[in-house]
Parts: sequence; C-alpha cells; structure tokens
Amino acid sequence: MSNGSRETDVLILGAGMAGLTCALSLPEELEILLISKIPMPTGSTFLAQGGLAAVVSENDSFDLHLQDTINAGGGLVNEKAAIDIISSGPRLVEQLSRWGIQLEGSFGNGKSGIEGGHSVRRVLHHKDRTGRLISEKLSECCSQRSNITVIEGAFAVNLLTASREMPEIVENGVDRCIGAHILNNGTISTVLAGETVIATGGSGKVYRYTSNQDSATGDGIAMAYRAGLTIVNMEFYQFHPTCLFHAEKRNFLITEALRGEGAILLNLEGERFMENYDPERMELAPRDIVARAIDSEMKKLGNDHVLLDATHLGREKLTLSFPEVTDGVTSVGIIPWEEPIPVVPAAHYSVGGIYAGTDGSTAMNGLRVIGEVSCTGFHGANRLGSNSLLEAGVMGLKAADSIPDTLMNSDEFRARDWSFGRAKPIMENVLVDHAWAALRSVMWDYVGIVRSDKRLNRALRIIDVLADEIEEDYWTMLPVTEMLELRNICTVSRIIVKSALSRRESRGLHYSLDCPGTLSPLKDTVIKLIL
Ligand code: FUM
Repeated sequence: MSNGSRETDVLILGAGMAGLTCALSLPEELEILLISKIPMPTGSTFLAQGGLAAVVSENDSFDLHLQDTINAGGGLVNEKAAIDIISSGPRLVEQLSRWGIQLEGSFGNGKSGIEGGHSVRRVLHHKDRTGRLISEKLSECCSQRSNITVIEGAFAVNLLTASREMPEIVENGVDRCIGAHILNNGTISTVLAGETVIATGGSGKVYRYTSNQDSATGDGIAMAYRAGLTIVNMEFYQFHPTCLFHAEKRNFLITEALRGEGAILLNLEGERFMENYDPERMELAPRDIVARAIDSEMKKLGNDHVLLDATHLGREKLTLSFPEVTDGVTSVGIIPWEEPIPVVPAAHYSVGGIYAGTDGSTAMNGLRVIGEVSCTGFHGANRLGSNSLLEAGVMGLKAADSIPDTLMNSDEFRARDWSFGRAKPIMENVLVDHAWAALRSVMWDYVGIVRSDKRLNRALRIIDVLADEIEEDYWTMLPVTEMLELRNICTVSRIIVKSALSRRESRGLHYSLDCPGTLSPLKDTVIKLIL
C-alpha cells in the first residue's frame, strides 16, 4: 500500500496564509509541493473575519503597534521578533496588493477597523470577510503557478529525519528534516524534500467548543514534538470571547470588530457587566480579560451564554460592514438589528507552538515552521486580535527569502517506505469516536479559561489513559485520518496540560486559581521529547 517516493525542492504542509504566502514568494525555478488536508481555500485564514493589523497610516507608528502588542502580551513578548514582524507589515500589505488583495484601510482605500488592545485603527480588512478574500486570492495565484503542485485531501503523518534515515548527513549533532510521510487515498508515500515547511495552523479541536475548522487538530505541533523539536508556551490557548451560541451553528465567530464599532456585552439579566471588570476599556479590553469576564458572569448566574448587543448599529451598517456575521446569524433566525446575539467564548488561537525564528527557522536543519503552528514570541502570553494574519504573512515572506540559502538537493536523500506491518483496518469506529469526545470534553471542562491544579492533574491522568489506548490502536490499525488526528490532538492536549501545570503563576491567557500572582524572572514553558 505504500505509494513509493517522490522528490521536491520544497514541501509545504498547510494551505493557510503562511503556507500560501511562502509558496508564492519562493523563486519560480524551485519545485514546490503543497499539501492541504482539506479542499482549498481553507483553514483558519479562510474563517478570519476581523483582519490584518499593520501600520500603514500617518497617525500610527511601529512603536505604537509594538507597545500595544507588548501591553497585551503579559510580559512575555519577544521584542526583537515583534519589531521584525511589525516593521515588515507594509511590505506584506504591498505584496498582498500585487496578488490582487486590496484591504480596506490601506492605500487610501476605505477605513481600517479597531479591535481590543489596539490604541488606534490599524486593522486592515475586507468588511468581515478578510480571511476569505486572502485565502481565495492566494489559492487562485497558486493554481496559476506551474512550479507549485497542490495536493488536496492529503495528510502529513510524520517528519522524516536524517537521524533516523541518513545519520551520515547529521551535521555536528544537528538533525535535518528530509521530508515527510504523506497519507493520500489510503496509501502512504515518502516525500523527500530539500526543505520542509510546517504551516499546519492551530489546534482548536482539542477543545469541545472552538471557532476553528474541523481540520485544526495540531498536526504540525504533534509531528514536530515526535521529531524532538522544542514546543513552547502551549498553556496560552486563546479563547475568543464571542462565538455564536447556537445548537446548529457551532464554530461561528462573531468578530471583535463588531465590538470595535460599539457592540456591547450584556449578561442575561441585561447588565453591561464589563463595567465591573475593566471599566476603562470595557468591551475592548484584551481578549483574556473579556473571555474571563464572560466566564465569570456565566458561572455566577448559572447561564450557558451571554449576549452581544449590536442593535443600535442598525440594519444598514450591519449588513454593509458585517455581511458575514449578518448572513451567519440570520441563517439561524437571529436578526442582529432587532435582538442581541447569544455568544459564548470558544478556543480560537494557539499562542504557543514550535519554537522558531521569524523566518521560520528551527533547531532542525531543513525544517521551517510558520504561522500559528510556530511560536516566535511575538504574541507573548496573549495575542492582540489581527496580529496573527500579520505574523503568518510576514513569516511566509521571510521563510521564502531565506530558504534558497539553506535548501539541500533532495536527490541526495533517501528514506525507508512506510511499513504497515500487521496492521488491520479499524473495525470498531466507536473506539475512535469515544476517545475524540472524551479528550475534547476533558480539555473543555478541566483545562479551559480558568484552571486549578486539581482539574489539571485530573485531566492529565485521564489523558494518559487515553494516550495509551490511542498508541495501541495506532500501532495495530491501518492509518486513517480520523485516527491520526486523534493521536495528534491527544499529544497536543497532553502538552497543553503539562505546560499549564508547570507555570506556577497566572499570566496572560493562563489563569490558575491556585497560583493567582505573577512570578519573576519571566520564563517560557518548554516541552521537548527526549529521543
Ligand atoms: O474577532 C475577530 O475577528 C478575530 C480576529 C483574530 O482572531 O485575529
């Protein structure tokens, strides 16, 4: 069932903004293979409503954007990375425009938006369909490039490393990535690549409720962890304060830009509760504060949601400026200019990730990681809204700038084909389904917005039991995507819990009832598999 092997100059895993920007910016003489787990346009980029934060107006400055990023980041922002990314914003915006993406707020085109934690309007957008425009245009550009081959519906199972396959090319003890095993149509092929780029996005599916697509199963983090890469600050999972609360439409975001334009939060007793939590910034306080305030109101009143009231913005403003939100909520019978929208926080963005430089470089030669799957330190302990599309695009550009300098010739590589051993088809899908539901419930109930040692330790014990069962199934059953994804969300859940347990303080997105204060010196949480 093995598909044999194939070679490429650059293998890109993931088709969100980071992966596509990188593919399109690499020299056209390089052969690029881009793997997308689901049909394109796709990923968290496609769902991004708010926009892309960049300094392009005269009343803004790099320093101001840096200061806002640092203020939100709970003391852990890597300033060097932040300066690098923020100052590359104008280059990204110009490049996007060359690819046919003119965002409102740039080049004298319309007005930029504002979200919590930004001190000026700098969120460039396309109404509330920013990510959709970016995804569609970049996917279209990729399809027109003869040096880019896209495979949709394929799944990267594991990284191929020199230490396992060709120890003779390990340089001074530094391992090299030489490609990946790719599952496609039930077969697993060996793809050898001069450089491999992980751009697989986030891990929202580790939680029962998420704004992410079903494909956000932390595949990149799990495969990098298994290959011995360093994973940092995974306890910082960002919960978006306002996802639609509705039985039929579960992962639908209500953009923060709506609060930027004046929408207010009410508890089910009709009180504007943000007054009690952050009276100055109110609904535009950073996301960790707003999400915790909502969580606290829901727990206090015993409710399962709160309300976002945008009725005063009126029908015209809502339909013209927020067509995505308006279409989404009216499709389930909520009329946003007549009634408040029921909302609830949901897992949204992985602030931690695989440790990387802003050009995606890692501790492994031949491997770059870009976008949400990486952790450059730009977001510190809490991400400012709309800083992630900026980071994804800038990292894509910078990785493409530097790959030609580090690329090796894949002709020189070899790796063993995947061995199926005595694996059998999965006969009892209930085992996989149950473990999926159990893991996501444990993460939601015990590792959510507010944490305690007791809940985290209980979560770890349950996850350890599930992990043993999942490993047994992995080695005895033929690989299918649901099983491989389950193994990955289990690995990522365990890393999140272990990271949360090791941070003995409350900082940014990590809030512990047992450790409410902050500690110095500042530290990153580091998790690494000893191979
Ligand atoms: O609320 C939003 O539109 C989300 C933006 C973001 O997460 O960057």
